[in-house]
Parts: sequence; C-alpha cells; structure tokens
Amino acid sequence: MGVSGGIAAYKAAELVRALQRQALEVHVVMTAAATKFIQPLTFASLTGHKVITSLWDEWDSAEATPEQNGIEHIGEALWAEALVVAPATANILAKFAHGIADDFLTTMYLATRAPVLVAPAMNVNMWEHKATQANLEILRQRGVRVVDPGAGSLACGMVGVGRMAEPEAIADAVLHALGRRHDLAGEIVLITAGGTREALDPVRFIGNRSSGKMGYALADAAESRGAKVILISGPSALHPPAHCEVIRVTTAEQMRNAVLSRMEESTLIIKAAAVADYRPVNVADHKLKRTGPITLELAPTEDILAEVVRRRRPGQLIVGFAAETENRMENGRAKLLSKGADAIVVNTVTGDGIGIEADTNAATFLTLTTSIELPEMPKRSLADRILDEIVTLRRPRTLVVEMDEHVDEKTRQDAVLKQAEAPASTRRQLIVE
Ligand code: CTP
Repeated sequence: MGVSGGIAAYKAAELVRALQRQALEVHVVMTAAATKFIQPLTFASLTGHKVITSLWDEWDSAEATPEQNGIEHIGEALWAEALVVAPATANILAKFAHGIADDFLTTMYLATRAPVLVAPAMNVNMWEHKATQANLEILRQRGVRVVDPGAGSLACGMVGVGRMAEPEAIADAVLHALGRRHDLAGEIVLITAGGTREALDPVRFIGNRSSGKMGYALADAAESRGAKVILISGPSALHPPAHCEVIRVTTAEQMRNAVLSRMEESTLIIKAAAVADYRPVNVADHKLKRTGPITLELAPTEDILAEVVRRRRPGQLIVGFAAETENRMENGRAKLLSKGADAIVVNTVTGDGIGIEADTNAATFLTLTTSIELPEMPKRSLADRILDEIVTLRRPRTLVVEMDEHVDEKTRQDAVLKQAEAPASTRRQLIVE
C-alpha cells in the first residue's frame, strides 16, 4: 500500500485495517510528503512491518526471502500481489503517468507487475484540472484501476469531487483486483476441527489421527472470503488463521458445549472435527499400572452434529463430514439422512497419504439432490471448493428445517426422502402436505 501526501492519509490507517480484516498482509510505503501528515510508526504498529519512506532506507536483509531481489523496491514490487495507493495525490498520479521514478513508491510502481489501484484525493479544482484528468486517462489506459473519489466538503473548505473513497470501498476494489471471492461477507461461520481426546488416566487418552488441517484450511478460506470465523479446535499443532476466534477443547463433551454455546450466532456450521464416538466410563485419577489384560468400558458420546441439526434456527446452514474407510458413498448418504445436515463432505480415511493427517484430500460433496466429486488437491484448495458448493446451497430454506422441533425422526426422514425425489418446484408443497 502506498500512501502519498494528502490530508486523507489518516484514512489510510483505516484502509490497512480493512485489508487486514480480509486476511491480506499489508506492507506500507510512504512518500516523504505523506510522513508530514501521518507518522510511519502508525503503519508499522498496524502492520507489524517496517514502513518504507525512502529509496535509501537501510535494506534489512534479514527480512528478504530468496525470491526477493536484494534491492528493496524490486523486492517489494515482486512480493506484492497488488499495489494500492491511497490517498493518491495529483502529484503521484502525474509521476505514475509519466514514469518519473524519484522515490520508493514511484520506483516500485514501475517495477511491479501486480495490479495497481489508486484512490485519488485532492482539492476539487486540482481533480478537475485537465492535467490531472489526462494523467488519470493515461493510467486507466494502462490498466490502473481508479477508485473514484466522492463528492462532499473537502479539507480545503471547498465542496465538490475530491474526497478519497471510503476505506471499505477501496478494500473491496483491492479484493476484486486480486480475484478474491468475497461471497461469505456477513456470514458467521462456526467450524470444528481436529480430533478429540478422551482420558483414560492422567496421561493416556483415546484419540484419533485427525490433524485439524482440513478444518483449519476451511477456517482460513472462509475468513479470506469475508466471513467471521469461530474455530472450535481439538488439540492440534497447527497455527490457526490470524483473525479467527479460536476456542480450544480436548474432549467430545467440551466440543459439544462450545458448539452449543456458539451455534446461535452462527449462520453456517461446518463440522470437520473427528469427534470421539466413545469415552471411557471410568477415568482413573492415577496412572494405570500394567497388571495384565484389562477391559475398558466405553460409553457413547453425544452426536454433536445431530444435536446441532435438532437445535438449528431458520437460515442456518449445517454441513458435516463423513470419515469412511469402506462403502464411502453408501455410508455418506446414510449419514446425510440420519444426521439431517444440508450437506455431508464424504472423505476416505484409510490414511494412505491422502485425507486424514495428510496435506491433500479428495471428497464427495453430497446433498439430497447432488453429488459432486472433488478430486485430490491440497486441503486449502479443497476448502475453497467445499465453500463454493456451500455458497450454492444458500437458497430459500425448505420447510424440513422448520419441522425439526415438531416431528419425530421417522416422519422427518420420510419428508427428507420425499423432498429428494421431488422436482425442486414441488418440494415445498410436498413437505407441507
Ligand atoms: N460427529 C459429531 N459428534 C460425534 C461424532 C461425529 O458431531 N460424537 C460429526 C463429525 O464432526 C462429522 C460427522 O458427525 O461431521 C460424521 O462423523 P463420522 O466420524 O464420519 O461418523 P459418526 O457419526 O461418528 O459415525 P461412525 O463413526 O459410526 O461412522
């Protein structure tokens, strides 16, 4: 992000926050004039990165990655996936238009191949001046995206066009330029991830091989598509995405309590966790000694997914996973019906380098009416594909959901089956009958 010297430079701090809310990493470059309006320290504090204010700043080689050229403006130009200049003064627009490269920002502009956006801010007469408009035209022709200023009272006391666009609008333009989907904005997504552990004694537990990678990838993907994410995670060595709220749990019971206490506010619930199905009836308060064969008595845990479906409120989408080692489609379909989720992501967990514990996964996204094959790919890519499918489910709710509290399981399942067989246009009517 480039900041040039205008009174709107203070709004650039808000733009940093707006971009960060979209899980974008922001580096800030300031022109000398910009530093008269706002301190580099403000941006350094917000971004956690050094703010570049001159071509001649000392190059901090410790921060250079192998791909970066040792020359800082080239390094930044190669690193950035987009360059947004806000505010962009008449002066910086003129320099960009004519290839003048006399400071860091103008040099970087020439060196980058990334999409460039400018958010002009200036006095109305300067904005309307033919020189400025001609420069903007040159820039537009070269593919620079101009986030037009708004009209209003300007800092100079005049009224007219020249006020920098609002930070949220500029952030939206940046996301658009990056080709990021922003289709989960406004959603609150609750995601469960990882395996749970059921204690046998103070040091031992019954667990499973789930790493949390799929759930964390979903959290990251949902967040970068604009959602607020609540990640409820079993023990996992992974670092959660920077901006999501993380609730750490150990047992199935703790996961259940966490999910139930946060489901009300959620609009989309994705249950990627591998929840223990059984817990030991007796937990020893001391380390069990080896005394020969022992028999463990296990009690079933609550099925959190089924409970979430029972307690759902209208408008909530609920997606479960099915971990199968054989008959995956048959079992997946049975789980879709028995649990009553809107969709089940069926994946194989035989553990041969794909799926559980692995970095890649393949799955079938199953709903009552569709079955979509998602071939093997990195879990982060699969997360986006799963979210693509979930987004398409955001259609008017069927009445099956609203019936949940009033009908028994058999009636509900019959209704679900009936719905699956009926063409879309008649579904609602059938359920009512
Ligand atoms: N699940 C849950 N609570 C449980 C067990 C499972 O919420 N106690 C959820 C999982 O998070 C997943 C879905 O139910 O979204 C299916 O989990 P899976 O382990 O595949 O199936 P189970 O329901 O446990 O059935 P089974 O182990 O018999 O295949």
